Amino acid sequence: MGWRQPRIGRTTGPLGLDVGHHSIKLSQIELGPGGPRLAALASRATPPGVFDGDGYLVDPDSLAGALRDMANELGVAGADVVAALSTPSAHVALLDVLAEPDGDLAPAACQQLAPLLDYPLDEASVVLRLMRTPPYNAVEPYAPAYVKVLACAMPAALVVALEQAIESAGLAPLVIEAAPLPAGHLLLGDGAGPASVLVGDLGATQTTWTLWQDLLPVFVTTLPLGGQDLTEAAAGVLGGDPEAAEAWKLSDPWDESLPAAAAVADQYLKSLLQAISALAQPAADGAHESAPRWPMSLIVLHGAGALLRDLAPRLAEATGLRVEWLDGFARLGMGIDGSLPNEVGRYLPQWANCLGLAWRQWVVEG
Ligand SMILES: Nc1ncnc2c1ncn2[C@@H]1O[C@H](COP(=O)(O)OP(=O)(O)OP(=O)(O)O)[C@@H](O)[C@H]1O
Ligand SMILES: [Mg+2]
Repeated sequence: MGWRQPRIGRTTGPLGLDVGHHSIKLSQIELGPGGPRLAALASRATPPGVFDGDGYLVDPDSLAGALRDMANELGVAGADVVAALSTPSAHVALLDVLAEPDGDLAPAACQQLAPLLDYPLDEASVVLRLMRTPPYNAVEPYAPAYVKVLACAMPAALVVALEQAIESAGLAPLVIEAAPLPAGHLLLGDGAGPASVLVGDLGATQTTWTLWQDLLPVFVTTLPLGGQDLTEAAAGVLGGDPEAAEAWKLSDPWDESLPAAAAVADQYLKSLLQAISALAQPAADGAHESAPRWPMSLIVLHGAGALLRDLAPRLAEATGLRVEWLDGFARLGMGIDGSLPNEVGRYLPQWANCLGLAWRQWVVEG
């Protein structure tokens, strides 16, 4: 992909593209006198069979076709794209890296990252982001100092395949990183967010919990479990009919008249809770300097799986924490006047990653 100056306008950012296993979401934001404004917004179902069960992009042509159609419909052909991908093989870690004055952080960061991956580092595509440096008066000007670096690694083959799909759709990929970080940046990016918050991305094929503390994503964990698994498990107890199972999921999963299906929903909730409580345990090897502090006060959910009826109150009851949805539009001061299409309003939490991508770039680099 290489580096080049983003070809974005003074006030319009690149396209934010969230490639999910269930749907593809695209948005573009323009900065007007009254604040951020939506310049483009679109979503469509991910073509079936584009990803395999391990999250690899096995049919880039179909993905490119869907992206090209979306770009043409929106009139944004040729635009720059910042993209996020949800994949179980993404690894995200906040590293403490000893920075030498005028030195390159990348080798030291990659050395720390390598043992965390379950594939060789030279098969990974790594995005590094400097998150925090010590205050200028806290270190000697020419002494090495620890800095916080956010490392995001994904299999290079997957990233290259996505880049090629974006390019053959007539768009220009700038950055590709792992969902769900953009949503957290959107929630906390202006520094006004809560000191400690657990952000959950509840997608179709995976669930990611990110613990943000003092505006840093100190811990990220991914469960290979999503809304699609819930539907499949429910189909197993509802006579094998996937449509009936999806309808059950979208209506009332804890419906007492279907106790076998309600037990499936219970099991799903239990898995989510187990992952949350695992976050509360300090790493056995003491590897995380910032072991999560517990308890927190707030869980914020996004991804359309967050819409599962009764999930939020049940999570709240089980954890004793406040549970909210992330409405990315409201976060950016958009849509509060009722100007969003109904279809968007119905699936508000699914837009958080996409909006976070579109928004962050022009604030940071625009
Ligand atoms: N009202 C609802 N109640 C429960 N689940 C819902 C609801 N609406 C959508 N879903 C589920 O949300 C999932 C899709 O969420 P989302 O769009 O965030 O996924 P994705 O980003 O495409 O997937 P992934 O992030 O796993 O790659 C699907 O499993 C869908 O059935
Ligand atoms: Mg997703």
